This record gives sequence, C-alpha cells and structure tokens, in this order.
Amino acid sequence: MTTPLATPIRWPAEALWEAVAPILPGFTVEVLPEIDSSNTELMRRFRGSPGVEPRPEPLLLVAEQQTAGRGRLGRQWQSRRGDSLTFSLGLPLAPADWSGLSLVAGISVAESLEPLVPGQAGKPRIGLKWPNDLWLSTPEGERKLAGILVETASWEGVRYVVIGIGINICAQDIPAAPHVTPLPGIPPGGLQTLLPALDAPATLLRIVPPLVQAVQAFERFGFAPFQARFAARDVLAGQAVQLSDGQNGIEGTAHGVGENGALLVHTPAGMKEITSSEVSVRPVAAQPPEGARPC
Ligand code: BTN
Repeated sequence: MTTPLATPIRWPAEALWEAVAPILPGFTVEVLPEIDSSNTELMRRFRGSPGVEPRPEPLLLVAEQQTAGRGRLGRQWQSRRGDSLTFSLGLPLAPADWSGLSLVAGISVAESLEPLVPGQAGKPRIGLKWPNDLWLSTPEGERKLAGILVETASWEGVRYVVIGIGINICAQDIPAAPHVTPLPGIPPGGLQTLLPALDAPATLLRIVPPLVQAVQAFERFGFAPFQARFAARDVLAGQAVQLSDGQNGIEGTAHGVGENGALLVHTPAGMKEITSSEVSVRPVAAQPPEGARPC
C-alpha cells in the first residue's frame, strides 16, 4: 500500500553513510520529502546558481516523492511515495572511457537484489535490457522493474556523474495520485513480487554500497570486466529487435554487448554496434510502459 505522508519512512541514512563513507570520502546522504527530480536537483547543485558555489561532492539524494521524475529519451518517470524507490547518486568520476556506465549500474543493482548462484540452472528472474532497464520475470510475463538515468556535467575540469535509479517496489493496479498520468498497457513489475520483505529503505541499503563499489571498479577497469555479468542477464540476446532514433528504424537480432558496452545487432547490412543512449530498442514483441503504476 502507499505510505501516507503522515507516516514517516525510516531511511537507513546512518547505516548507508557508515558503509559508503570509508570508500568514498566526503560522502553524505540526504532525504527529501518531495522534489521535482533527484537527478535534476543533483545537477542543479553541481552546477551551482548565482551566489551558490557549485558542489561536486559525493551525495546520495533520496526523493520520497518526485513531481517531475525523468526517464531516458525525455520520457516521464512515474512513482509514488513508499511504493517506489527513487534516488540519485552523484559523484566526481574520471574513467578513461565512459561507455557502459549505465549497464554497470544495472548489473550491480540486479546482482544485489538477486545474486547469481554458481551452477544455478535456468535464467535469473531479474534481467537487463540494454542500456538501462531492469526487467522482472513474473508468471504474467516480463515486467519493467527499474530504470536508470545517467547524466554528467563538467565544471573546472571536474566531471560529475549523476546516476538516477527508480525501482518499482510495489506495482499493484490502483488509482493514480493526482499528478500521475495513468499508464496504458502492461503494468510494471514490483520488486515485492520477488522479495516480499524488501521495502524501499531496505532496498536502498542493499543496493547502494555495492553500487558505489561497482562504479569505482568501472572507473578503474572500464566495462570489459562486467561484460559476462551483463550477458548472464541479457534479455535481448537472440531476440529480434527494432532500433529507433526518432528518424531511422533498424531491425535485426541482438547479439549481446561488446567490451565497450555497445549493443551488437546483426542486421541484413551486417553487425551494427549501437552506442547511442538516444536510441530506443524494442523487442519486436510488445513492451511494458515506463515507470510505476502506483500501488
Ligand atoms: C528510464 O527508465 O528511462 C530511466 C528512469 C530513471 C528514473 C530515476 S528515479 C530517480 C532519478 N530521478 C529522475 O528524475 N529519474 C531518475
């Protein structure tokens, strides 16, 4: 059920700080009851404003409610207090190559929620759809569980990255809050289908410390060490896909991702490497909509 505004949500800010600050000096945690978008807010803070110095500090910003949550390709991200986990991690980062960072974030979140057991038969229930979606396999079919929006900005030679993550904790079908546009089509998946005991605060504590470690590993070693981990959950592999960048449509068969995180698509014109985050990839079958249909 949706958590009413009067009911405080107990966020594990101290435990998060204790787990992360030793590996990320200067790290702080902040929880806001409401903001337009945690990504937008971190970008505003990084850039500064007249009279306010830019702040390139490592910060985890949790938004209990977003009023203008953003997804990729200019889409909206819908969420509702308590039923969704919406947060952004901002930190200075200097990898030699940025490609694959959103995939690394997705791998880390998926592995934290559903570790792979060596020798385990069958597909994991949490899959990854290039470049930024987590999907949950349910008895009713594949459902979008989470989305990731990575944005960067530079100031005086410092490159700052904001990794925004939205996870549907509970995704039952009930009437939407006034500012939420109801979604047509297939409802998104909720994490509690897989892990009934995990609420938004417990999910945050479970995923953030490994996420910071994964981002730091990416900064040092790039995407290549993550390639096989992505492949283990790649929901597009072997599927007929359609790519669209708004003007051109390409059809082909997805063949996993390369060492740089590019999506490999076998087309009638040969193998194409898709690197642009502006491209939308659809399995030729129907897609679930973005964001959470609230509980
Ligand atoms: C997508 O699937 O297109 C990405 C969705 C990302 C949503 C998260 S919620 C926290 C952060 N703040 C935002 O406005 N967006 C990201």
